[in-house]
Amino acid sequence: MSYEQILVEIRGNVGLITLNRPKALNALCAQLIKELGQALDEMEANADIGAVVLTGSEKAFAAGADIKEMAGKSYMDVYLADFITVGWERVTKCRKPVIAAVAGFALGGGCELAMMCDFILAGDNAKFGQPEITIGTMPGAGGTQRLTRFVGKSKAMEMCLTGRQMAADEAERSGLVSRIVPVADLVAEAVKVAQRIADMSRPVVMMVKDSVNRSYETTLSEGVHFERRLFHSTFATEDQKEGMAAFVEKRQPKFTGR
Ligand code: CAA
Repeated sequence: MSYEQILVEIRGNVGLITLNRPKALNALCAQLIKELGQALDEMEANADIGAVVLTGSEKAFAAGADIKEMAGKSYMDVYLADFITVGWERVTKCRKPVIAAVAGFALGGGCELAMMCDFILAGDNAKFGQPEITIGTMPGAGGTQRLTRFVGKSKAMEMCLTGRQMAADEAERSGLVSRIVPVADLVAEAVKVAQRIADMSRPVVMMVKDSVNRSYETTLSEGVHFERRLFHSTFATEDQKEGMAAFVEKRQPKFTGR
């Protein structure tokens, strides 16, 4: 598959997708979103890949949905096309873990896209924000919902109502990002983390991802019940036998994904 607005690379057992529309600070136009979906489809189908890294440039992960493309749309255009739902949510459906490696601006749809990933590693120059209100609209790719779950109501409300940007250190303190990495090392570190995940048991990785995500969708008792059932099912895998045997025998496990 050839792409115009993203770069796609395979590094060992990790898929690396780089948003690549530098002149528009990776603004998320329809073509870019379509290519992102196709790249994720390819990576899901490639059995050699165990995890995916999604990144942008040092200046911008993505400066939001493409304002120039959206500006002239009518209510019927966006309603009938189910704008945002179609295409954008592909990343949330990915069964393999997707790590967002965010440097520079992650604004509007850029921040929302990063939050759709499983976790965010931030470069030390990262800036997160939901500035849609400053252009007469509001977050439309989950920002009011996901940001609130990550950083709490007060910060989310302030950011969505004022468009204030949050720098990397505040984002880490608030739980929006898992940690901060010097920007020059960001992609290499994200690929290293993805590699570590890809070396684990593939089915167990999927179960862990499913279970953590479930905590956002359900009550504590239902979530714990869901986790318990998945935990039990890991005992049906060869990888659980191998992992525990390797620990007892003081050697590295060799997971086969079975
Ligand atoms: N859409 C389209 N083009 C964009 C863009 C966007 N979201 N963000 C930046 N660009 C373009 C600029 O128009 C400019 O293009 P030209 O050179 O052709 O004029 C180019 O990228 C460089 O941008 P700037 O000159 O503005 O760069 P800067 O360093 O001075 O400022 C910035 C950077 C603060 C990120 C500024 O570009 C900006 O405020 N961008 C818009 C951010 C925004 O409002 N995002 C929310 C979009 S709405 C949304 O995302 C809805 C949703 O929830 C899905």
